[in-house]
Amino acid sequence: MVLTREKIRKIKEDFLREFDEAKSGLEELEKIRIKYLGRKSAFNQMLKELKDLSEDKKRELGPLANEVKKDIKNSIDEAILDIKREKDLQKEWIDVTAPGNKKRIGSLNILSQTQREIERIFNSMGFEIADGPEVESEWYNFDALNMPPDHPARDLWDTFWLKQKSKKDQGKLLLRTHTSNVQVRYMKKNKPPLKIVVPGKAYRYEATDANHEHSMAQFEALVAGDEINVANFKDVAEKFFSSYFRQDINVRLRPSYFPFTEPSFEFDISCTVCEGGGCPACKNTGWLEVGGCGMVNQRVFEAAGYPRDKYQGFAWGFGIERLAMMKHKIDDIRYFRSGDLRFIRQF
Ligand code: PHE
Repeated sequence: MVLTREKIRKIKEDFLREFDEAKSGLEELEKIRIKYLGRKSAFNQMLKELKDLSEDKKRELGPLANEVKKDIKNSIDEAILDIKREKDLQKEWIDVTAPGNKKRIGSLNILSQTQREIERIFNSMGFEIADGPEVESEWYNFDALNMPPDHPARDLWDTFWLKQKSKKDQGKLLLRTHTSNVQVRYMKKNKPPLKIVVPGKAYRYEATDANHEHSMAQFEALVAGDEINVANFKDVAEKFFSSYFRQDINVRLRPSYFPFTEPSFEFDISCTVCEGGGCPACKNTGWLEVGGCGMVNQRVFEAAGYPRDKYQGFAWGFGIERLAMMKHKIDDIRYFRSGDLRFIRQF
């Protein structure tokens, strides 16, 4: 066998033909690489034959053969690179028309939203927002509000009493049963005229049902000055509820009893569904019960260190859950702290 120009050209032609069919598969490319460039390839065989040629022929065919070998190698290498690049691209491919993954960002719990709304309205009426502890002394929760130990009115609130090592400093401790504990706390430090609202949690040691929870949010209002009367209360309450429900609301007072107010009332608002006409939501009465209120008992002023009969004031308290339930038509108070995301995400 002698190496000739034709032979080299034939190898190249054969290669190109096979390469055309093989260039899209890695396995196929590897096969023709072995066939044309491998140790036992026809091409290597021919390079060996080159040695037997005359110097002249060597000089003529040597570079040509090497060039063809280089071309073959480059073609195969490039084809392999192309395939890999294509694969990478497929991995990175993104469908720009696909809908995005919606990230859930949290939102304020409906109770916080309601509390903020209430605060906003009272702020606009010139009220200050006051705060107090949830772990409270017996004195601020009861005694200061005209309920000495053993007073039967304490039974109105089923109380969580706390276990204590020593009762020396602050007496018995409890979880406050209402936000009214802040009344005397605040008045001890401030003199009338004053207008405050106190949002916060309160706790009752009682069985739960659709309208009762052991933990709940309350909202207290306290106004004190020289000439405050029940009409002032009614006016503030009507303005507040009309603003909160975004409709005209009437307030009605019914006689009631709280040790820290005299006289005391339960207050109702005109039904937000039927506006007073009577419907299932208000059990056909036209009214919805909201909370308790009254004129501050002089004994409470005395507990705060004010002289008796110098000031007058009103106070009220209601549950924030109840207010949210009325506005958003929620029928069970236990949803609020159930941790059920289906409930929480509605708001
Ligand atoms: N603290 C009372 C309760 O929780 C409500 C109330 C507040 C009544 C202020 C009168 C005045 O039931």
